[in-house]
Amino acid sequence: MEFALLPSINAALVATDALIIPMTSEGLGATGQALDAISAGALSATVKAANFEAKLGQTLAVYHLANTSTPLVLVVGAGSAAEFNGRALQKVAASAFKALNTKTKHAYSFLSELVVTDRNSSEVISDVVRATLEASYRFETFKSKKTTDTGLSQLTLVVGESLANSEGQAAIAWGESVATGLNFARDLGNMPPNICHPSYLAEQAHLLAKNERKLSVNVLGEKEMEKLGMGAFLAVSKGSDQEGKLIVMEYNGGKKGDKPVVLVGKGVTFDTGGISIKPAAAMDEMKYDMCGAASVFGVIKALLAAKLPINVVGVIAAAENMPSGKATRPGDIVTTMSGQTVEILNTDAEGRLVLCDALTYIARYEPAVVIDIATLTGACVVALGKVVSGLFSPNDDLANALTEAGQRSNDRAWRMPVWQDYQELLDSPFADMGNISNGGPYGGAITAACFLARFTKDYTWAHLDIAGTAWNSGAQKASTGRPVPLLMHYLSSRVAR
Ligand code: BES
Ligand code: MN
Ligand code: ZN
Repeated sequence: MEFALLPSINAALVATDALIIPMTSEGLGATGQALDAISAGALSATVKAANFEAKLGQTLAVYHLANTSTPLVLVVGAGSAAEFNGRALQKVAASAFKALNTKTKHAYSFLSELVVTDRNSSEVISDVVRATLEASYRFETFKSKKTTDTGLSQLTLVVGESLANSEGQAAIAWGESVATGLNFARDLGNMPPNICHPSYLAEQAHLLAKNERKLSVNVLGEKEMEKLGMGAFLAVSKGSDQEGKLIVMEYNGGKKGDKPVVLVGKGVTFDTGGISIKPAAAMDEMKYDMCGAASVFGVIKALLAAKLPINVVGVIAAAENMPSGKATRPGDIVTTMSGQTVEILNTDAEGRLVLCDALTYIARYEPAVVIDIATLTGACVVALGKVVSGLFSPNDDLANALTEAGQRSNDRAWRMPVWQDYQELLDSPFADMGNISNGGPYGGAITAACFLARFTKDYTWAHLDIAGTAWNSGAQKASTGRPVPLLMHYLSSRVAR
């Protein structure tokens, strides 16, 4: 899809397939009022006759409005003007796209007329572009009949004098980059687990690096991980016929010697629970247990598109958690790369096991900041639902920066504690720690974060538990691509732009 900018245009005269006109509960915007005047009140009469209330995301298609040259005027409801925020804008832009029919190849959008309480006007452009591209996403790789009718191919944003310039173009490019990364993360997440296994993810990293001077990839197999003493990681991957992989992607967009941000993604390509096997219901959704990894891939893809001048290392801990004669037993004790020992009491708490060794490994990059992203605990979904990601960090500045990035990118996270008080719940009578809490399921997202905290003492670290936010269940089952927007916003905030 192509995006273009215009300072202004006579909406009645423009020859195009559709006009997208916002309307709040207070009434039509400037362009809507102009069209109403030129059509001698036909637009407002239609709005009234249809009992259109301009509720958030509601749409009304008006065909062949009198005295206009456009076949379709699409009125999009924005709800109350006073409450119109970035979240509402995303909804409006997505509804507008979805309400256009396949005859609309080219449309003009007047959504920039909306005043957004918590976004500046260049962010409005990025957000409309992003929301449109997100709404156009389809995953049809495994459908024998694919959608063939192509819809919108060009969207012209009418944005006023001050933004129909290079600043507006940069805003378009940013929205495109984030959406490209997010949609890539969705693709990886939605892939079936018989195809998307650790070697497939490694292959994806090599494909990303093809012809990209700024990206280099290195993949460690199980032999190399044995040499490094990654006993926790290997305890997870050894039950599977698929070899575990530690995938390292180095994006060198910044100055040589600038300390990198390191992103570590949980890439459990399928989580059966292992010997502590999960119940059958909805187990298919455990193909999404690599969505942390998918978000790291998405960020690397978006960085390449945005050419952000920053150094980022993306590390994927990719393994499949299976029961077998070779699988880890509850009660097994392993030695992690850090030298600390772990009694594996529940093989279903495998995410922390693959992550702890990856988090030890990455110390060699002398990171400025480390963020791990993981579908780590069902307990996080109990605590926060599917609205926000769980954010854990002993560092206030980093926690605040990530919270802010989540707010501004419509991809929120909420901070939870990683206090010392919880640490004794990980005590084991036989090893340095157990891999689950000895106090039962209470505070499970926190005790999981506390486990990781024992391996991240040498650098500034945050953990994002995306178990609730990475995918939607039920009839709308699909990966969301979160938290690519949060991470991209955070990375861009680190770059003086
Ligand atoms: N991948 C799961 C967490 C999960 C479960 C995410 C359901 C989203 C939906 C993780 O590996 C896991 O199984 N965690 C256990 C930990 C427990 C054994 C301490 C859990 O949450 O039940
Ligand atoms: Mn598990
Ligand atoms: Zn898991």
